Amino acid sequence: MKNIFRTIFSLVCALNLANSAAQTAFDYGADVNEQRLINASEEPEVWLSYGRTYDEQRYSPLEQINKDTIDKVGLAWFADMTTSRGQEATPIVVDGALYISTSWSNVWAFDVRTGERLWEFDPEVDRAMGRKACCDVVNRGVAVWQGKVFVGALDGRLIALDSQTGEKLWETQTFDPEMNYTITGAPRVIKGNVIIGNGGAEYGVRGYVTAYDAETGELNWRFFTVPGNPADGYEQNILFDAASTWTGQWWNLGGGGTVWDAMAYDPELDLLYIGVGNGSPWNQSLRSPGGGDNLFLTSIVALDPDDGTYRWHYQTVPGETWDYTATQHIMLADLEIGGEDRRVVMQAPKNGFFYVLDAATGQLISAENYVPVNWATHIDLESGRPVENPDARYDITGTPFIVSPSALGGHNWYPMSFSQNTNLVYIPITENYMGYVRDSEFTVNATGWNTGINLARGFGMVRTAQGLPEQGTFLQAWDPVAQEEVWRVKHEIENGPAGVLSTAAGLVFQGNRSGEFVAYDDLTGERIWSTLTQAGTMAAPSTFEVDGHQHVALLVGSPALPTEGPGAAAATTLASTNNSRILVYRIGGEAQLPRVPVNTESDVEFEIPQIDVPYEVIASGETAYNNACAVCHGSNGISLRPDTYPDLRRSSRMISEDEWNSVVLEGELLDNGMISFANLLENGEAEAIRSYIISLANAED
Ligand code: HEC
Repeated sequence: MKNIFRTIFSLVCALNLANSAAQTAFDYGADVNEQRLINASEEPEVWLSYGRTYDEQRYSPLEQINKDTIDKVGLAWFADMTTSRGQEATPIVVDGALYISTSWSNVWAFDVRTGERLWEFDPEVDRAMGRKACCDVVNRGVAVWQGKVFVGALDGRLIALDSQTGEKLWETQTFDPEMNYTITGAPRVIKGNVIIGNGGAEYGVRGYVTAYDAETGELNWRFFTVPGNPADGYEQNILFDAASTWTGQWWNLGGGGTVWDAMAYDPELDLLYIGVGNGSPWNQSLRSPGGGDNLFLTSIVALDPDDGTYRWHYQTVPGETWDYTATQHIMLADLEIGGEDRRVVMQAPKNGFFYVLDAATGQLISAENYVPVNWATHIDLESGRPVENPDARYDITGTPFIVSPSALGGHNWYPMSFSQNTNLVYIPITENYMGYVRDSEFTVNATGWNTGINLARGFGMVRTAQGLPEQGTFLQAWDPVAQEEVWRVKHEIENGPAGVLSTAAGLVFQGNRSGEFVAYDDLTGERIWSTLTQAGTMAAPSTFEVDGHQHVALLVGSPALPTEGPGAAAATTLASTNNSRILVYRIGGEAQLPRVPVNTESDVEFEIPQIDVPYEVIASGETAYNNACAVCHGSNGISLRPDTYPDLRRSSRMISEDEWNSVVLEGELLDNGMISFANLLENGEAEAIRSYIISLANAED
């Protein structure tokens, strides 16, 4: 009786709620202030900032979607994006609106209840910027504050938009457009400052973060992560200390240390944490020939958010030489360690170790490897430094070495999640390795990558090596107190993971590259629910509650479509090349993704031409290709992401010199990010590259 009464009662409540909420007119006012951001954990209805809360835990207290109800979850609405490049943004939801950024730094706003598109903003980024973006023209999200939506555009503009209309309120250029910087990361708003970093360490730049006044766009402070030319004086006192850890003339090469992704904020300690990237060039012997720690590369640095003053740092890889960025997700949590309550900073950077630091002081509490690691045996807790394997320092020994993890990292930018339900961290990981070979002919390349390692030889080394372990992509549950794995799930296809969300209902949500969106049991990793997305996923989901309904939103679209696994057939459509979409789910959702015919034209047949040119031409084509094209189209002509960067061995453009040159020299596909290389290639090089590609295509047969 009591139970029936309860059921009826809650039913009535639910109806009332739905009715009253339906009458609420949203104003899309993004009425976000300091207090609201600090208390974000108590407002599960919204998702106010990149990692939901300032501690960036990506954990939601919402429980309406749980193990009992999840079978009834369906698609509430979806919307197609207009670009087929990669999608990495976390949807932000506040005051009735859902905001996302897409590739090429576009921003879209939707009514969260209906999916009605409120506005779209296109910053019209010059497509030639694509050349400077190491890893696609992506954007990881927007920030909101007092009626404004902020996006960091690929070309370096920080732009403030009106949250209701999408109208531009102000914009400011955050770097010298002549230099090889880009922005792909999400801004954070702290105490009225919009904080934004940048990327470009592969291209010879010097990293920094900047704080701009959210109202006016005025520059308030800037913190450089590496010292510049000593002759010019240092912008911050701490750079005097940092400079003593560098040798040679590093400033001519930029030094690197870009802050392209992670930030977190602790309101109580009043500290802003930033994650600092790799060295430029990667090879330390070229960058800082006498060695040294090279501060603040690969460090977590704590700053005063009011003026950017240095507070402390912890360096994960002193003297880094493997592209081991510490830009990966930084999160804060309260953990009981050794019987004590500790406020900690946690990070699983590329280098394969999971770090737990004291949030107030940066003191190392513990570090264990979460994937196989061979560049170091362990982290010495006393000194806080890694105990290295000397063989891994290919730059010093001169002997090539296969290093784990690879430059892609054991964990990359894909957001992880800390569940307050289990006290576990859910990490999207990959087990991998890569051959590091010193580039003995290194010269500074003003327009391309500057790694100081011979990537092509490194890949070749791995291809021909015997007995290497299997590589793989996994979702891993990690106990940060015990520093050990609790469970893992292997992903069906191996080309990279996607961001994670955990909830109080014991669920862990993650998309994958086989075209599925999956919910796992947070204690066991058991697969509880899945749905087909018609696309590969890289981005992390967010969750929120509107009109009494919990929703889960996911932006899908990865450079490569699923070619294996459950979603493969559903994904290969004529509609778009990667089906980039925002998908919003809730209990009772009934929307259907379009049924589209399977694309049968993808394997266009054409006769591979025969050529008769001297070997030297092909060899010079190979060199030119490696310098100018491999960054996008892949080493040795093998595209790792053929959906975004066509595999040239299969391009019918090779049939005629005209067809080829119209793209390579005349910029026919400029609008799609394939700029003209006329001013970068020497006479005859375009044709030599064509010969090289034809020779590869014939070798394939
Ligand atoms: C910054 C990344 C980037 C670099 C560097 C780059 N490309 Fe491209 N390229 C692209 C993209 C993206 C496309 C696909 C454009 C589209 O979708 O139409 C493309 C398309 C092409 C195509 C057309 C393929 C087809 O079948 O449609 C050719 C040919 C080509 N590139 C050759 C080259 C050569 C040769 C170089 C070096 C000189 C080069 N590319 C360097 C990004 C790049």
